[in-house]
Amino acid sequence: MKEQLEAIRKGALEAIAAAQETAGLEVLRVKYLGKKGELTAVLKQMGGLSAELRPVMGQLANDVRASLETAIERQSGILSQKALEARLAAEAVDVTIPGKKPPMGHKHPMYSVLDEMKEIFLNMGFEIMDGPEIEQADYNFTKLNAPENHPSRDWTDTFYLTEDSSVLLRSQTSPMQIRAMEGYGVPIRMISAGRVYRKDEVDATHSPMFHQIEGLVVDKGITMADLKGTLNAVIREIYGPETVTRFRPHHFPFTEPSCEVDIQCYKCGGKGCPTCKGEGWIEILGAGMVHPKVLRGCGIDPEEYSGFAFGMGLERLALGRYKISDMRLIFENDIRFLEQF
Ligand code: PHE
Repeated sequence: MKEQLEAIRKGALEAIAAAQETAGLEVLRVKYLGKKGELTAVLKQMGGLSAELRPVMGQLANDVRASLETAIERQSGILSQKALEARLAAEAVDVTIPGKKPPMGHKHPMYSVLDEMKEIFLNMGFEIMDGPEIEQADYNFTKLNAPENHPSRDWTDTFYLTEDSSVLLRSQTSPMQIRAMEGYGVPIRMISAGRVYRKDEVDATHSPMFHQIEGLVVDKGITMADLKGTLNAVIREIYGPETVTRFRPHHFPFTEPSCEVDIQCYKCGGKGCPTCKGEGWIEILGAGMVHPKVLRGCGIDPEEYSGFAFGMGLERLALGRYKISDMRLIFENDIRFLEQF
């Protein structure tokens, strides 16, 4: 029996040391120490032993049981430590790996130009105003001294929203002149940017929706010199200090005198090229001294106050600023185009 017990101890200890999984270890525990296990089977033969041998064998059997239990416990500890290490290794995070950057958009080039413009005018002491795109014909035309038969009032040119032609999508930001004067009185220095709408076909230089920046200054003693000085300063800030400008007589119903302002072509320097359509000049804005009738209509005495106003197309400004050849690129929002700015 002694040999039997020693054989069980040897075989069991080897099997336990070789066990690689907790489940396998449990199987071994049942196999050797369980009710129907090998050790119990041997103990059942104890009855046939002599009185002297019985306690000796009992002692040995207990010793074997104890050593198997200790071995199982030790192996179990080793296995769970190994499992923990494996899990930690598998779930480890390398904090030194550079992070993944989510793709981020950025400001549309036209709005960058608008922000630049706002900055320039804010530095000159202008305020920024916002106004409605759905406008009354009164503000878009009548209060701006547009005669009843003015071509821009035509249904073929302007988007009307009511049958009686009293409400429309504003065709210019100039109604903001009226809103500014009526709403805030004088003196005033403001710009207002936003969308305007005209029934134009889409081509390289036209779109039925585009953006304008309107400006208005009204105070005592404002002259055409203020208009020229202010606009020249702004244009040179945007297009560079060497930019050559040209003020040309023009007509707008709400300014008198009126002018259009050109810059010498930034592509060819005035020689004539496709960008300036051979002219050497590119028109960038309309301006003029606020018409006395318009001032009076807003409750301002033209004998005491005078002012100048201007309006420019924001898309055209962006085209020139970034030397873009086709206005449609501004609206298409093709990522390949936008990413270049
Ligand atoms: N509103 C005019 C246009 O759309 C531009 C302009 C604004 C002219 C202010 C003079 C003064 O063409």
